[in-house]
Amino acid sequence: MTKEELVQKAQEARKLSYSPYSHFAVGAALLCKDGEVFYGANVENSSYPLCMCAERNALYNAYMHGKKKEDFAAMALSAASDEPCSPCGACRQVLSEIFPADAPIYMSNLKGQIQETNVRELLPFAFSADDLK
Ligand code: THU
Repeated sequence: MTKEELVQKAQEARKLSYSPYSHFAVGAALLCKDGEVFYGANVENSSYPLCMCAERNALYNAYMHGKKKEDFAAMALSAASDEPCSPCGACRQVLSEIFPADAPIYMSNLKGQIQETNVRELLPFAFSADDLK
């Protein structure tokens, strides 16, 4: 699957966003090595801290279907942002634990801009289970 196709799927997922507070809809598409794609969109709540991001919903969706870190090939996310939408700090921390460090993450917007990155770039010196020893 091309990065453009995965971004297209993130934009489809974005349509499922529940974001009546921020009015900032985000979609994510998580591609597995077997070709399966899992979707996520942000889901907000009147108690604002309970809002859940598109990226984490996509990851947790995949986990609930039996997928694991080693099964993931790439992720795309998309929003109507000026610059390609970038994962928040909480999502970076979650990605650093359950998404491969070097797998491509395609940040995008609705203007067709796509910027490739990965967890290693997004969260250097991440806190991890090793720090708990
Ligand atoms: N949001 C995401 O879903 N992913 C991101 O990468 C950035 C932020 C959501 C959280 C909240 O529902 C809204 O966008 C505004 O912050």
